[in-house]
Amino acid sequence: MKTRITELFDIPYPILLSGMSWISTPELVAAVCNAGGLGILATGILSADQTLEYVQRTRELTDKPFAANVTLYFPGAERNARVLIEEKVPIINYALGKGDKITEAVHAYGGKVMATVTNARHALAAQRDGADALIATGHEAAGHGGEVTSLVLVPSLVRQVKIPVIAAGGFADGRGLLAALSLGADGISMGTRFMSTVESPVNEVQKQACRASKVEDTLYTNRVDGLYARVMKTEGALRVMRKRLNPISVLFLSRKIAKLLGFPWMKLAMGILLSGYRKSIQMARMAIGFEAFQSATIDGDNARGVLPLGQVTGLIEDTPTVQEVIDRIMAEASEILAALPDRFQ
Ligand SMILES: Cc1cc2nc3c(=O)[nH]c(=O)nc-3n(C[C@H](O)[C@H](O)[C@H](O)COP(=O)(O)O)c2cc1C
Repeated sequence: MKTRITELFDIPYPILLSGMSWISTPELVAAVCNAGGLGILATGILSADQTLEYVQRTRELTDKPFAANVTLYFPGAERNARVLIEEKVPIINYALGKGDKITEAVHAYGGKVMATVTNARHALAAQRDGADALIATGHEAAGHGGEVTSLVLVPSLVRQVKIPVIAAGGFADGRGLLAALSLGADGISMGTRFMSTVESPVNEVQKQACRASKVEDTLYTNRVDGLYARVMKTEGALRVMRKRLNPISVLFLSRKIAKLLGFPWMKLAMGILLSGYRKSIQMARMAIGFEAFQSATIDGDNARGVLPLGQVTGLIEDTPTVQEVIDRIMAEASEILAALPDRFQ
């Protein structure tokens, strides 16, 4: 298949694995790359040493092009970006922040850059900063999708930018791929679908939950990690959302935050006291969110944890291999395409 994305990244199919913290590990990334797509390695929760180890392990598992993400809002993102650049990772994907310096450094070694955006302002800024492609994340998406649904966001961005747009949020099958191409996208990026595969490291409890859940079974809230995010509607999510925070509770949480940021506790506690109310509450929410996400993805605990999950979970009924997902998407898209001319008679 040929689109601007397959050409840009030298891959057979315009199908990407989204960079999902805890999930997009070297094993899953390599499985997607070896099956003809492009995997994005997630570095959001990794230290610099772990990032280096993950890049090296990905290279051992695949000789195909791969990408790695930096979620600039997360602590340690700049450290991780430096590792990815030193390692000359072929494609870097940045999200939730300004990526002009990253873009310049990646282009200097001949790499490519994808910026994840949720609105036109950020899309135009990323294009101005030199990004080679955009991942447009709609409201349906797991995690930090925007306010606008993919059906509207994708054509709106395609109209305003020159660089290729990859549609994310709500894609899981051949129907979705064809729809995205019709909207003007040059590919799709999938999180929830690839999280529910044999190779995915998510706890088996969640694979079962994904198969059972319906399109209505998610929530969009800013009361988990402080940013608007879509998560599975569970007891754990409702519990975390109810948590009230004030500066005193933030000081109690500061040990957790210090561990997360890799900071000495005393220094952080002083910083919290000096940083003001809003900033300290935001930090506390991030610490609570990270702990809850980890507890759901790794431990499979839906009573205490919170699982990022897209609405497309309602279209997922099985747990196939990555290769099966990609083969199925390509076959289904071709089948629908072949039948379309009949509809226009
Ligand atoms: C468990 C999980 C963890 C995620 N972690 C991140 C992350 O660290 N950074 C990020 O930019 N997006 C993250 N996402 C969002 C995905 O990158 C992607 O935008 C989303 O899954 C696409 O929508 P879909 O789930 O409908 O395919 C995560 C998604 C899931 C399911």
